[in-house]
Amino acid sequence: PPLSTIINLDDFEQAFAQAGAPKAQAYISGASNDLLTLNANKSFWQKLWFRPRIMRNVSTISTRTKMLGCEVAMPVWICPMGIAKTAGPEGEKALGAGAVSSGIVHCMSTAASMSIEDILSSAPKTYPFFFQLYVDRQRHKTEAVLAQISQLDQIKALFITADLAVVSKREADERLRTQEITSVYSSQEKSRIDRKGAGLARTTGGFIDPALNWEDITWVREHTNLPIVIKGVQSAADARKAMEMGCQGIVVSNHGGRALDGAPATLLVLLEIRRDNPEAFERMEVHVDGGVRRGSDVLKAVCVGAHGVGVGRPFQCAVLYDTEGVETAAAILQDELETAMRLCGVTNLEQARGDMSFLNTSELE
Ligand code: FNR
Repeated sequence: PPLSTIINLDDFEQAFAQAGAPKAQAYISGASNDLLTLNANKSFWQKLWFRPRIMRNVSTISTRTKMLGCEVAMPVWICPMGIAKTAGPEGEKALGAGAVSSGIVHCMSTAASMSIEDILSSAPKTYPFFFQLYVDRQRHKTEAVLAQISQLDQIKALFITADLAVVSKREADERLRTQEITSVYSSQEKSRIDRKGAGLARTTGGFIDPALNWEDITWVREHTNLPIVIKGVQSAADARKAMEMGCQGIVVSNHGGRALDGAPATLLVLLEIRRDNPEAFERMEVHVDGGVRRGSDVLKAVCVGAHGVGVGRPFQCAVLYDTEGVETAAAILQDELETAMRLCGVTNLEQARGDMSFLNTSELE
């Protein structure tokens, strides 16, 4: 379908379902087991209602904010997603370039289908990026990555992914055990195909170290001065742990339902942190991702207290339309966020952040 027919983020996922290669579709849209967590992420945003305020002069509003030291056009970042070339030939370059022209930040994945330099080459020398790290079983490899990214001025934060100690069972992906897509990856990775399933994620994720633990934060700190953000927090207890370890931030995430099926919707975890450990929002940045598909979802997350919100699959699917697709996805979110703010009586995000009086949680209680 032509890009001009796309008017919301779900349209991107549907366009990809029609036009993308079936195996890429299975990899990108898929999640673990019965998709319980995938579906819950999205549906719980829809169970949180606004408590809009009226007659507050919303003629001028701003969605601008600061995230991990970076000035951004809106509190949305593009999630790290592996092998973006499966979605379109420009792959991560389209994600990076689209983020730049939209004034938002792309968090690059360890599992990208091109080099960090290639991704950065699509951006001005001063434009910020984040980097997502999977810790390798071979720790010296991770040390080399940390040395490399610490030298790159454009990288402003390190997101350590902690919710995928082992790669989960992705059945749509597994059913299409295949050559086509794995050919994107090296033959060494391909050889990891085994009886536990030949899905793309499992065949490429075997390097992730299941021994990762909180003490390793100290080890990471020996190799980088970047702000550390723990991605994949799923309980108030672990939010507290990250805070006590002095991390600069967390991402409340369950990997878009691609890790533990049965993990709670990320909105529920965000609310749990608000209730059990509200100082987390003061002492570090609390971000969230999973099922965010509307600018109004972004505003809801900010009202609970989030500093930023990650959006995954719709951007990956937008890579089907190269950079222009990514820009369109961001423009749609920007417009929806502005509209939601105006209709809610919010003129800037600082006014809304952590202000639960803009929300009605009765359906969640
Ligand atoms: C991911 N995600 C992910 N996370 C991460 O830390 N490193 C990675 O390499 C990947 N790879 C990846 C590939 C694909 C195709 C998807 C869809 C997701 C998880 C991602 O960063 C994010 O947490 C979720 O995608 C957010 O949920 P939504 O917005 O896709 O619902």
